[in-house]
Amino acid sequence: MLNFELYNPTNLIFGKGQMEKLSSLVPAGSKILLAYGGGSIFKNGIYDQVMTNLKGFEIVEFGGIEPNPHYETLMKAVEIIRAEKIDFILAVGGGSVIDGVKFISAAVHFEGNPMDILQKRLLIKENALPFGTVLTLPATGSEMNSGSVVTIKATEEKLAFGGSAMFPKFSICDPTVIVSLPKRQIQNGVVDAYTHVLEQYLTYPHNALLQDRFAEGILQTLVEVGPEVVENPADYTLASNFMWCCTMALNGLIQKGVPSDWATHMIGHELTALYGIDHARTLAIIGPNLYRVMFETKKGKLAQYGKRIFNLEGTEDEIAEKAIEATVAFFHKMGMQTKLSDYTEGYENTASFIVNRFDDRGWKGLGENQLVTLEKVKDIVEMSY
Ligand code: NZQ
Ligand code: ZN
Repeated sequence: MLNFELYNPTNLIFGKGQMEKLSSLVPAGSKILLAYGGGSIFKNGIYDQVMTNLKGFEIVEFGGIEPNPHYETLMKAVEIIRAEKIDFILAVGGGSVIDGVKFISAAVHFEGNPMDILQKRLLIKENALPFGTVLTLPATGSEMNSGSVVTIKATEEKLAFGGSAMFPKFSICDPTVIVSLPKRQIQNGVVDAYTHVLEQYLTYPHNALLQDRFAEGILQTLVEVGPEVVENPADYTLASNFMWCCTMALNGLIQKGVPSDWATHMIGHELTALYGIDHARTLAIIGPNLYRVMFETKKGKLAQYGKRIFNLEGTEDEIAEKAIEATVAFFHKMGMQTKLSDYTEGYENTASFIVNRFDDRGWKGLGENQLVTLEKVKDIVEMSY
């Protein structure tokens, strides 16, 4: 097991009716920026619940944070916060709104060009404006982690950043919020969380036994509840297990003491930046081909995954191969299409574009052992057409 530090200061408040605690969670006397997305919170009653529970606070609203939030939009909120002397931000939404708020929080007191936070991938450890979240879409784990992904529209770059000051102070996670989600977004949530686990699990065999069992527990639970929760989002057992899986998949716990990959995400982000494909769907396109191209280094773990999650039998190579096919079948069952050509036309130069971009950024080797070289990236993306 590798050495590790486990730090997670987010106060996670989980369950039905937990919104009532909101007023006691926001520091007394705060002037709040209420940040939200395209307006779903007005249709499903979440806005009303928030406002009822924030009576007495001074609130400035900031809506319009788009999926895959734009730097350009977020900077407008930064200006408002500076002008209005706001001292707390409440994100009400999915991963995009929460990630957007993390960037806003980091940028408000940042000295220098805030775009550097993204382009230089700065670690934000201090000087952030405190924020909390009300999660409306289980998927990213952003409600309990310190990462964020923001798109610079002007350059079509989707870039990740984070740091210890980027943990939410609190997150209210009420599983009943998923009732109003379109099926497509629930499918996305399951596949995003599933892939988060695979990024931290499908590397090479190691001796962190408990971490493997944590990861496998989340995978098994998602296989069990994923297809059903899409059809029955009002079922509390399904909704609560789905939501908790998503948080646990990326709150840092399963990644402690083990190697992690993240190459599927790095390549997938490019497909969203270029073609606007939903984040989870880019993972369903890239993930299985990454496992095929990196088969020799990943087959030990693929075989363990195949045995323990899908009860597959055979030699190590056979089980590992079948495990990739079982993953694709699960993604299909979750309503994903797994080829780039299913989503867009004009994709023929995608591989060389991405390779050049990674080369410019100095990303010459991704993955757990930096073995996903630019050549491999090209193979993975071309295999995904
Ligand atoms: O904007 P509104 O009107 O709220 O509608 C949203 C949006 O259109 C809608 N929605 C959310 N909650 C709803 C709802 N509709 C009805 N009822 C509800 N209860 O869903 C749509 C998608 O929302 P979005 O926040 O974009 O989805 P998601 O949570 O999947 O977030 C995706 C973003 O998170 C990033 C992705 O790259 C992407 O930008 N990620 C963040 C990570 C992190 N911070 O750790 C890790 C992930 O790997 C991921 O990269
Ligand atoms: Zn993801």
